[in-house]
Amino acid sequence: MKAIVIYFSHSGNTRKAAEYVANALGLDTAQIMPNDSDSNYWAPVEFNPDDYSDYIIGYPIIDGSIPRHFQEFLSSIDWRGRKVYPLCTMGGYLGEVEYQLHKACQGASFRDGLKLKFIDGKCTSFDKDISSWTAYIQRDARLF
Ligand SMILES: Cc1cc2nc3c(=O)[nH]c(=O)nc-3n(C[C@H](O)[C@H](O)[C@H](O)COP(=O)(O)O)c2cc1C
Repeated sequence: MKAIVIYFSHSGNTRKAAEYVANALGLDTAQIMPNDSDSNYWAPVEFNPDDYSDYIIGYPIIDGSIPRHFQEFLSSIDWRGRKVYPLCTMGGYLGEVEYQLHKACQGASFRDGLKLKFIDGKCTSFDKDISSWTAYIQRDARLF
């Protein structure tokens, strides 16, 4: 059983949360960037999905959606037999993201997620929320 944090972050909020979880649990990370020449696709990453069974998936909500390149990347993975822990950063409007994530990760076992609300780059409940969610992942994924 191996876990990884995969994420996309435009302005840094999701990166901060993703790095917190990865550092606290000693996990690998992969940032999935859009390809410069085609924003609807992802840039190649050094990452083999077959190496991992548990995925912490971090993304921002942009215009009520998960950024398209990130949805497309997620859709390229065979999720059967894999666990997903959703990590969402946002301003307050969920839009379609939960539907989109379930669609992109069809077949995954969805575990409890975390939503962090950032206003002007700050999330007042960050420390409390992310530390308790990280402890939950550690127990749930048996990362000891
Ligand atoms: C262009 C733009 C559109 C956004 N649309 C939404 C939205 O629809 N719903 C929401 O809750 N937050 C929205 N936000 C806020 C971001 O989701 C929030 O700031 C997030 O933490 C950004 O993550 P990042 O710093 O990792 O890119 C939007 C931000 C930007 C810049």
